[in-house]
Amino acid sequence: MIPTPPNDLELEQIELDLFVQALRRRHGHDFSQYAPASLTRRVRQLVHDHRCVSISALTARLLHEADFVTQVVQGLSVPVSEMFRDPAVFRALREQVLPMLASYPQINIWQAGCAHGQEAYSLAILLEEAGLYERSHIFATDFNPEALQRAREGIYPARDAQLWSRNYLEAGGSQSLANYYSARYDYLKLHERLARNITFTSHNLVSDEVFCEAHLVLCRNVLIYFSNPLQNRTLTLFRDSLVRGGYLCLGLRETLEFAPVAADFSVLDAGRRLYRRYARGVAEGAA
Ligand SMILES: C[S@@+](CC[C@H](N)C(=O)[O-])C[C@H]1O[C@@H](n2cnc3c(N)ncnc32)[C@H](O)[C@@H]1O
Repeated sequence: MIPTPPNDLELEQIELDLFVQALRRRHGHDFSQYAPASLTRRVRQLVHDHRCVSISALTARLLHEADFVTQVVQGLSVPVSEMFRDPAVFRALREQVLPMLASYPQINIWQAGCAHGQEAYSLAILLEEAGLYERSHIFATDFNPEALQRAREGIYPARDAQLWSRNYLEAGGSQSLANYYSARYDYLKLHERLARNITFTSHNLVSDEVFCEAHLVLCRNVLIYFSNPLQNRTLTLFRDSLVRGGYLCLGLRETLEFAPVAADFSVLDAGRRLYRRYARGVAEGAA
């Protein structure tokens, strides 16, 4: 029996499945567990940006042009961020988390999905102002090599300065954010000394393992792009990376609530999505 021809949406789904398979089999990037709606939107955008007639045409380029994958990953990764984004969260980190971290002789922070580095530099400023930066290290990771390169450079459009300065003050900053950068023409460059205890490096939350022994894991606005099983994998990775008593900070539209690892955490500040790994395991009577 000849199958009924697919309608446009079914056809697009077939093309998408083949695109995702090509990306994984040809280049090792696995997007099969990303949330379908946002993945579809971004693939459609790639089709438009690269003037392809269809997703299949995009897939053909992915298979046959060795360098094209870099542009595809860039298009799928959405490396959008800002300094002190959601200032109330950075204020909570400043007021509720850093004083607790101060008791550790060495503080390791894993900032996953660092995009162009704005959050990592914001954390460096918080630590500097709390007098903790000399004994801290921030591991800022992303799977997008171009984003990591931009993060290392620490150069941003000057038009962002106004919003970021406001965010910084709302996050409890007591000086001027301008003390941390030099402005040149249309760009601002963060002072290099801010990067002295930051390592920007590649880590893929889909396929890589536990990263470091961290006292704080900050991963914001990344889980929203993942399907539930991938969110659960990622949250398990964070739980296993955190020392007992360590802190986890998620994005404002993300939650730990329904994840299997929720039982290993207490809620420190529900509104700011701040959680703390129990000092003891559930079997030992979590506390
Ligand atoms: C919207 S940005 C969030 C940036 C920053 N955390 C913030 O909230 O402002 C999402 C980042 O997650 C990264 N990302 C997406 N999938 C990833 C994966 N599988 N592993 C590591 N990083 C990933 C993207 O490259 C992008 O830089």
